[in-house]
Amino acid sequence: MLNLGILISGRGSNMEAILKSIKRNKIPIKPAIVISNKADARGLKIAQKFGIKTEVIESREFKGSRWEYDKKIIDALTRHKVTPQNGLVCLAGFMRIISPEFVERYRNRIINIHPALLPSFPGLDAQRQALDYGAKYSGCTVHFVDSGVDTGPIILQAVVKIKDSDTEESLSKRILAKEHQTYAKAVRLFAEKRIKVSGRRAVII
Ligand code: GAR
Repeated sequence: MLNLGILISGRGSNMEAILKSIKRNKIPIKPAIVISNKADARGLKIAQKFGIKTEVIESREFKGSRWEYDKKIIDALTRHKVTPQNGLVCLAGFMRIISPEFVERYRNRIINIHPALLPSFPGLDAQRQALDYGAKYSGCTVHFVDSGVDTGPIILQAVVKIKDSDTEESLSKRILAKEHQTYAKAVRLFAEKRIKVSGRRAVII
C-alpha cells in the first residue's frame, strides 16, 4: 500500500477533498501524515477529525537553509513511512518553495495544485493575475513538482470560464471547486499507478 503525506499551510480544503475522496472511493493509498509549516493552519484540525496524524514544522522562525528545513519534513515523512519507494507527497496550499534536494529524493512523487492553467500565471495570486490580464478562461493544474516554480509535468487541468462580472473572490471560489475534484482525481490516478512520466509529459494510462 502506498502512503500519503500532505503538506499544508492554511485552510486545507484541498487536503479535505483528498481525504474525503480516499475514504469514499476506497483509493488504495493510506493517509499517513499531514504536516503544516504553520501552527495555526486550520487544516490541522480537519486532518485530526479524519483521524490523521499531524505535525507542525514551523518555518517562520527557522534560521537554516531551505534544504535544512526540508530535511525536517523528510524526517517526519520517513517516520510515517512516506518514502521515495512507496510514498506520495501532496502539496495542498503549502506556500513554500521546496529545495532541489527534496525534489530529487522524491522524484515524480511530489505533486502540487495551482489555481491557474499553467504555464500561465505561476507563483502567487494566480486568480488575480488571470483577472488583471483579462484572460477569458482560467482553471487549475495538478502537476509533478520539479525544481522550478510551478513548472513540473502536468498531470491534469480543469478549465473555468471567467465572467466579466468576476471578482478575485468569485473566480477563486469557482476555481477552488474544480481544484477539489481535480486533485482528488490525480491522487486516484497516482495510487492506481496510471501516470507515466516521459520527459515533460505525464501520460495517463
Ligand atoms: C488553493 O487555491 C491552491 O491552489 C493554492 O492555495 C490554495 C490553498 O487552499 N495554492 C497555490 O497558490 C500554490 N501556488 P486550501 O488550503 O484550502 O487547499
